[in-house]
Amino acid sequence: MSVGIEQIYCYAPQYALPLAALAAARGVALEKLPQGLGVQAMALAPACEDVVTLAATAALRCLRAARVDPREIGMLVVATETGVDHAKPVAIFVHELVGVGPSCRVYEVKHACYGGTAALMAAADWVRANRAQPRRALVVAADIARYAPGSPGESTQGAGAVAMLIGSEPRALFLSEDSGVHAANVYDCWRPFDRREALVDGTYSLDCYLASLSGAFGRYRTLERPALAPGEGLVDRLARVLYHTPFPEMAAKAHRRLLEVDGGSVTDEVYEASYRELVAPGLRGVSQIGNAYTASLYVCLASLLEDEGRTLAGRRIGLFSYGSGSCAEFFTGLVPAGAAAIGSTGVRDAIARRTLVDVPTYERLLHEGERGGRPPDDFTGDLVFTGIRDDRRLYERVREASAA
Ligand code: HMG
Repeated sequence: MSVGIEQIYCYAPQYALPLAALAAARGVALEKLPQGLGVQAMALAPACEDVVTLAATAALRCLRAARVDPREIGMLVVATETGVDHAKPVAIFVHELVGVGPSCRVYEVKHACYGGTAALMAAADWVRANRAQPRRALVVAADIARYAPGSPGESTQGAGAVAMLIGSEPRALFLSEDSGVHAANVYDCWRPFDRREALVDGTYSLDCYLASLSGAFGRYRTLERPALAPGEGLVDRLARVLYHTPFPEMAAKAHRRLLEVDGGSVTDEVYEASYRELVAPGLRGVSQIGNAYTASLYVCLASLLEDEGRTLAGRRIGLFSYGSGSCAEFFTGLVPAGAAAIGSTGVRDAIARRTLVDVPTYERLLHEGERGGRPPDDFTGDLVFTGIRDDRRLYERVREASAA
């Protein structure tokens, strides 16, 4: 393992709706929202922010935190399912806003929430492929998750971006070269071209996620070296497990399934203790930001490293990525000794500086969408989507990027 994440940085829009307020407005029991799903709040993008400003802000702050010149980046990939054009990639807007040089390979990838992992794996392979000459890639996962107001999915929206600098001197996470993959064509969650909000077959999507976890994790177990002894669990070799987290209770369901695949049936007591130790510590960020689709798993990683980078140094963690449609991947990473030195990963800052809004404000933000415009007076972001002129999207920097 010599390639991995050198720096990671998360950016979420500053407005957020507490789920308790949504529950009251929709006449839903508090036991269901937020407790039943485990979501406390969901981040909301104002009209002046779109997926480009989210991705570029995370990228700028990541490079600033790593003290890396954007012109060192040889590959820039943005993963999103909130694309702004059928042909022009979000990545090329980010390329300009961040100041990456012209000899950089730039593109966008899509496979629902799995896109962030697809981009990460492509970037890691690209860095590994040229050992003689060190090179660096920038991967950004960014999304704004939307479901129809009043639908069951409404409570699992969110927005955010995570930028990751990939190279051969990882200070955040060394990546395993092996991974277990599971793919299948399913209609669990999708968004046809003419729709702004995703369509979802809710219960079926949970089944697809769990079946994919069984497939991907089961495959990874067979690749584990040194091989597992009969009766030995792979989970015993992991200090934490992070999951793609559309809502925290999904991670809880996933962890039970993982333990079952690893060692057969588990008692509630064993499962609860394992969940508390391995999974709960990684859920602080997503429970306050909501589902940031491609970025969700990496919000968990950023949050975990910010909270526990020092204590996890030298320990191995498991990561499970799932994207509807579907493709899933289980892989592991080793937290390097220098993980504490990456400092803030933006999650604590995003939560501390947010503005909680009421349901009428949330509904106004939904209605306005990202149509662009001047930022609100209290806006704390670095970049603004000012609107569309002559069918071209326009962006402006309103302040220098701060790596909080
Ligand atoms: P729902 O109809 O709102 O909720 O749908 P529910 O009735 O299933 O209840 C949710 C939980 O609250 C249940 O817990 C209830 O028991 C509990 P569970 O039984 O599952 O453990 N509950 C209560 N508890 C106490 N007192 C009460 C009470 N009422 C209920 N009174 C659903 C939930 C997730 C289906 C919905 O929110 C949805 O459709 N969300 C979007 C889809 C989704 O997030 N799927 C997850 C897997 S697929 C995925 O992760 C990919 C994705 O990120 C997209 C991509 O890849 O691009 C979505």
